[in-house]
Amino acid sequence: MIKFDSVTKTYNHSNQAIKNINLEIHKGEFLSLVGQSGAGKSTLMKLIIGEEKPDSGRILIDDIDVARIRSMDIPYLRRKIGVVFQDIKLLPNRTAFENIAFAMEVAGERVEDIKSHVPKILETVGLEDKAKAFPHEMSGGERQRVAIARALAHNPVLLLADEPTGNLDSINAWDIIQLLLKINKDGTTVILATHAKDLVNSIKKRVVTIEKGEIVYDQEKGKYVL
Ligand SMILES: Nc1ncnc2c1ncn2[C@@H]1O[C@H](COP(=O)(O)OP(=O)(O)O)[C@@H](O)[C@H]1O
Ligand SMILES: [Mg+2]
Repeated sequence: MIKFDSVTKTYNHSNQAIKNINLEIHKGEFLSLVGQSGAGKSTLMKLIIGEEKPDSGRILIDDIDVARIRSMDIPYLRRKIGVVFQDIKLLPNRTAFENIAFAMEVAGERVEDIKSHVPKILETVGLEDKAKAFPHEMSGGERQRVAIARALAHNPVLLLADEPTGNLDSINAWDIIQLLLKINKDGTTVILATHAKDLVNSIKKRVVTIEKGEIVYDQEKGKYVL
């Protein structure tokens, strides 16, 4: 589904954030990308959604080369991908329901579809009783659930979660991981980027370790690659 083929990304002509990475992510997989702060996790995710362009190499998503995608095709690509970040930016003056509905409105969905779909997504993330709550009336874990619900609003085939548990205590963090696992079980490919090694080890799914822009361990290959 996603293939990194000898991908290198340099910032400001000197900072090599991604160094000659080869990585294949299969449809339906749950992949944990683990590495310290500055290792290149977010850059890898930005390359997938076309927010950053590589210096060299190819990034194929279902055989589309994201590195060479025309800007007019980026919205189409983004519709296939849901994204959740650590610093959740919910609209403060809108309820949980409205935050999710807004994402669907922007994607051009019909009002009837929005009305019927949003309650279902709220149920998926376990927030059916918080539909009318505003962000300031929810806990950090609940806000993150709304963010995940919003990312799921347009039924993406791929969900990118970049440090989604970064601001949460361990119990809430684990709940979010369980939710991501459930979403994956329902068929969505999930990539989770995190510096929390312990968390990743308890997930028992494929782990890829990145250090200073290089993949040093890929569980699928069953060995250290460097
Ligand atoms: N927009 C940017 N401009 C310049 N350097 C950047 C930018 N984004 C990230 N970097 C640098 O690239 C490297 C990898 O960063 P990042 O991908 O954010 O790592 P991680 O998400 O693993 O913490 C770091 O050295 C970081 O300082
Ligand atoms: Mg990051």
